Amino acid sequence: MVSWTGFAKKSPQERRQALKNNQALSPASFEKLNKEELLPLETANQMTENLIGRLALPMSLAPDFLVNGQTYNLPMVTEEPSVVAAASYAAKLIKRSGGFTTEIHQRQMLGQVALTGCSDWQSAKEAILAGKADLIDLANQAHPSIVKRGGGARELTVEQKENFLIVYLAVDTQEAMGANMVNTMMEALVPKLEELSGGQSLMAILSNYATDSLVTAQCAVDLRFLSRNKEEAKKLAEKLEQASQLAQIDPYRASTHNKGIFNGIDALVLATGNDWRAIEAGGHTYAAASGSYRGLSQWTYDKEAGKVKGRLTLPMPIATKGGSIGLNPSVTVAFDLLGQPDAKTLAGLIVSLGLAQNFAALKALVGKGIQAGHMKLQAKSLALLAGATEREIPPLVQELLAAQHLNLETAQKILDDIRNNPNAKRT
Ligand code: HMG
Repeated sequence: MVSWTGFAKKSPQERRQALKNNQALSPASFEKLNKEELLPLETANQMTENLIGRLALPMSLAPDFLVNGQTYNLPMVTEEPSVVAAASYAAKLIKRSGGFTTEIHQRQMLGQVALTGCSDWQSAKEAILAGKADLIDLANQAHPSIVKRGGGARELTVEQKENFLIVYLAVDTQEAMGANMVNTMMEALVPKLEELSGGQSLMAILSNYATDSLVTAQCAVDLRFLSRNKEEAKKLAEKLEQASQLAQIDPYRASTHNKGIFNGIDALVLATGNDWRAIEAGGHTYAAASGSYRGLSQWTYDKEAGKVKGRLTLPMPIATKGGSIGLNPSVTVAFDLLGQPDAKTLAGLIVSLGLAQNFAALKALVGKGIQAGHMKLQAKSLALLAGATEREIPPLVQELLAAQHLNLETAQKILDDIRNNPNAKRT
C-alpha cells in the first residue's frame, strides 16, 4: 500500500517520482510533467479566438480518496492556498472512517425550445405530446453518431410557464457533456414544433440546470477524528450540524458554504478540461431549487453511531470525451492520475471532493477558526523556504507562529538560532 504521509513535504520532482514509482502515474505522463509539456500555442489557437498567449495555473494532487471502496488520487487545479491541504486532510480522515459512497441518480442532459404566440396553449401542448415519438426520432436523426454509441434523445415533456410553452428534451450523451449535440437536436426540432403548436420558437438551447444528472456523495466521519477529547469531539459534532443548518437558512452563509464546496469541485473540473461555468451555473441553480438559496450539503450528528454524517447532491454533467479534453496535455495527465474513469465515476469523484472540502472548512470554522490553518501553512512554507530540514520544521513553525512578524527574515533568524543553539530549550 502506498504511504502518502509526508507527500506535502516533497519537492514537485520528488512527488512525480513517487507517483511513478507507485504506478499512480504512467511513464508517458511522468515525461509530460517533467518536460513541462503545456498546451501548444497552435492547439490553443484552434480552441479559442484572438489568441495571444496561455495562462498557467498550479496543478496539485489530493491523494488517497476512498470512494465506493476504491482509492483515487485527485488532480486539482487551483490558485488558492490551503484548498489542496484541506482536501488531503479531509480525505485522510474520511478514508479512516470508511470513505465516501456515491450515487448517480441519472445521467442525461436537457435541452429546451421556448415557444411563444400559441393561440391555444392546451391544444398546442396536446399536439406536441401526440407527436412525441416522431419528435424524438427527429432529434436522433439530427445527431445519428450518438445513437450509434448507445445514447440519444430519450424523453420529451412540455410545460406552459406564463406566455411560454416550453418543450424539454432529455438526451443520453454517453461520455460527452453534449452541449453541441443537444443544441443541434433542439434546433432540428424547431420547424416541427412550430408546425404542431402554431407558435414561434424564441430560442432552442441546452439547459445547464442538469436535473437529470444529479449525483450524491455521502460519508460518515468518526467522532474521534474531530478531537481526541471525547467531550470536545461531541461539541464539535453538534457545531458541525449547526453550521449545516445555518447554511440552510441564511443566504449570506449559504453562498460562502457553497463557495467552499466549489473550491474542490472547480479544481477537479478544471483539471479534467471540463466546462466549469456549466457546473457552477447548474450547482447554484440547484442550491436555489426550493425558492431560497441554500447550502448544497447537509451534515447531521448521529449520536448513537458516534458519527457526523455528510451528504452532498448537485447536478454533475461532466464529460470524459469531447471539447478540449483530448487536446490539452495537462488534462491527459489528469485523466491518467484518475485511472481513466468513465463520466459517471468522475462525477462521483468530483462530488466526493466537494464534500471533503466542505468538511475540512466547516471543521476548521467551528473549531480553531480558518486563519489558524492558513497561518500554519504559511509558516510551514516559510520554514521550507528558509531551508529547514524535516526535523527543524516543527520547532521553527512553532516559534514562527509565536513571532511578531511572520516573514522569511524571521524564519531565517529562528533557523540560525536553532542551528547555533541545538540544545537550547525552545518555547
Ligand atoms: P492540520 O491539522 O494542522 O494539518 O490542518 P497537519 O499539518 O496535522 O496535516 C494533516 C494532513 O493534512 C496531512 O497529512 C496532509 O494530508 C494534509 P500528512 O501528509 O502530514 O500525513 N496537509 C497538507 N497537504 C498538502 N499540503 C499541505 C498540508 N498540510 C496538511 N501544506 C489544514 C491544516 C490546513 C489541513 C486544516 O487547518 C484545514 O483543513 N483548514 C481548512 C482550510 C480550508 O478550508 N481552506 C479553503 C480556503 S478558505 C475558503 O475559501 C472556504 C471557506 O470560506 C468555506 C466556508 O466558509 O465554508 C472557509
